[in-house]
Amino acid sequence: MSKTPTLRLDRLLANLGYGSRREMQALAKYGRITFDGEPMKDADKHVPLTRDLPDHLHLDGKPIDPPPGIALMLHKPLGTTCSHKEAGPLVYDLLPTRWRMRDPAISTIGRLDKDTSGLLLLTDDGGLLHRVISPKNHVAKRYRVTLDRPLRGDEAETFAAGGLMLDGETKPLLPAVMETLSPTEALLTLTEGRYHQVRRMFAAMGNHVTALHRESMGGLDLPADLEPGTWRLMSDADLAAIFA
Ligand code: URA
Repeated sequence: MSKTPTLRLDRLLANLGYGSRREMQALAKYGRITFDGEPMKDADKHVPLTRDLPDHLHLDGKPIDPPPGIALMLHKPLGTTCSHKEAGPLVYDLLPTRWRMRDPAISTIGRLDKDTSGLLLLTDDGGLLHRVISPKNHVAKRYRVTLDRPLRGDEAETFAAGGLMLDGETKPLLPAVMETLSPTEALLTLTEGRYHQVRRMFAAMGNHVTALHRESMGGLDLPADLEPGTWRLMSDADLAAIFA
């Protein structure tokens, strides 16, 4: 059986962005940190990094933030960016302010364009990030695409065959599945994630994407009750669904 990892109380709270280790030691001394209701006056003490730690460890009577090893699903709204290099509000601005100071930091699992909405995953777990984006795991991403002009009729066949070469690339695309919803709407499922891939695939077919929304990753659908701009912590079942 693997042992539950532990961390010194002052280090844990500092890593969660509550302040410096020295400040955490002072808070502990004043009895503001409790474990199961009992003041933890010694911040050198180790605490177990279990998922339910916030049920036990409180600061000023409030549960602490989730310990490291978290995954979130976010309904990315239009107009937000995943990259600090792009102008505009960041998806990270939708999370609690303190979470920007977390170590390890939370980052997006892959990216969506500023003009794309839908399911975006975030984590501070590098192993999880790599498992989701690794081409070996073939995590399929399904997009709802709205087009400027009616479909020609040969798009699904062309995408399914694979081998399409996008402008400026040297490696042909893997096969992708397209389902027509209406003359100007389709679902496109990809197992790779190249830069602006969906938009460029339709551009290669002489069309233009006017709206793009990611509906699912693997077997995990964007929950219908997750409003744009809101997020939730992922459960083990959500994580398993990605790879199902
Ligand atoms: N393909 C795109 O063109 N944009 C995205 O955001 C995702 C896939």
